[in-house]
Amino acid sequence: MERLPGFRDFYPEPIPHKDVWSADARQYIFGKWREAARRYGFREYDGPPLESLELFTTKSGAEIVGQLYNFTDKGDRAIALRPEMTPTLARMVAAHERAYKKPIKWFALPQLFRYERQQKGRLREHFQFNADIFGERDAAADAELIALLIDTLRSFGLTAEDFVIRLSSRNAWQEFYERGVPGAERGTEGEYQFYQVIDKLERTPPEETEKKLAVLGFSLDIVNRFIEAGEPTVELKAMLDNLDARGLGDFVKVDYRVIRGLAYYTGPVFEAFDRKGEFRAIAGGGRYDNLVKLISGGKVNLPALGFGLGDVVLLELLIARGLLPQFDGGVDVFVLIEDETRRPDSLKLIQDLRSAGRVVEYSLTTAKPDKQFKRAQELKAAHTARVEAGSMVRVRNLSTGAERTVTAAEVGELIGLTNVLPHPGPLREQPSRFKP
Ligand code: HAM
Repeated sequence: MERLPGFRDFYPEPIPHKDVWSADARQYIFGKWREAARRYGFREYDGPPLESLELFTTKSGAEIVGQLYNFTDKGDRAIALRPEMTPTLARMVAAHERAYKKPIKWFALPQLFRYERQQKGRLREHFQFNADIFGERDAAADAELIALLIDTLRSFGLTAEDFVIRLSSRNAWQEFYERGVPGAERGTEGEYQFYQVIDKLERTPPEETEKKLAVLGFSLDIVNRFIEAGEPTVELKAMLDNLDARGLGDFVKVDYRVIRGLAYYTGPVFEAFDRKGEFRAIAGGGRYDNLVKLISGGKVNLPALGFGLGDVVLLELLIARGLLPQFDGGVDVFVLIEDETRRPDSLKLIQDLRSAGRVVEYSLTTAKPDKQFKRAQELKAAHTARVEAGSMVRVRNLSTGAERTVTAAEVGELIGLTNVLPHPGPLREQPSRFKP
């Protein structure tokens, strides 16, 4: 049985084949994403991977709708696997926004599904770090969000030489569009098509773009002149000043070639790219002040903005720049059981060390001493420990070779016990629906 094209198998390191993905690298990325979100005060949420088809068909725009994994379920509902998180989030926020103080700052790490043509950096399934803010119209929120994106990428060791955030504005393009087209042709359909042409500018031959623009009443020359002038709007200027004040000015530049493919953006938009231009967009986002209203049928009106940072391009970039660390099991100590009469004492030692937060490995069944030692080395264990007569324990540091005999209670300290697990506290009362 083969896996479906565009989907991934994640194996623990060392990965057995170049066609599979590293589960450790994925965990590493998720850890950095969560840590960056936490530093900026974002709270984690999640939603269902299946949604009603309608949530996406009216909100996301033609391109994503063409890539939907959708079907009719056994209850005759038209449903789809989520291709992006934003409509789900808007639905969730609209349902319970009163329970939360504004601005709402939330993040999620959803797996998303798009039936795309498979190519470098694009698969049919990927994970995204989504961070969004609701209830703030000021450009300070846009700057805060971009600062989070920059700091997230920086936490992997990437610098201003590796990536840049290209800032643009749907407002600026909307004004340009409205100025440039004779009244009769100014339908919303035309405007969205125009954005689609601009979105694909860099990936389409100029002759083709010229033709598409002519239908909409524009010329490539006029469009290019507008891009080259790159005059920042008032909001973009405020964002640039805000990011400058944080010392993050080098990570951003105004670039009107960015417009974003998704239909719901209303104001400032942005995309993160590698500086060398070798990869597809690492991340993208912007303001979508009308989506909550649209999704709630007019009941709730909240300004919103956010971004999605994908795991696929990010991983490609980290590998290319040599920034992905080596992963191993992180075993602190391998307990050697060379004499089976010592197994009960060894199990007690293993249990105590694990309770204290240490990563402990050992042989589940009887094994020759040299085999056990080899296994400890393969696992890159930092130490071995062997229970000896009188319940004393012989501990060996595998990198220095130094050996010492200590009491069982002293082993934790000897192997540098610093990582004690936080006490979990009392159990919370479960809501009644979870009771058996
Ligand atoms: P998006 O630009 O469609 O935005 O996706 C964001 C990022 O996800 C892309 O820059 C890319 O790195 C990654 N990505 C997208 N599609 C694929 C794919 N097929 N394979 C691998 N990676 C992919 C959104 O999805 C918006 N909902 C983001 C957002 C959140 N806007 C506001 N809040």
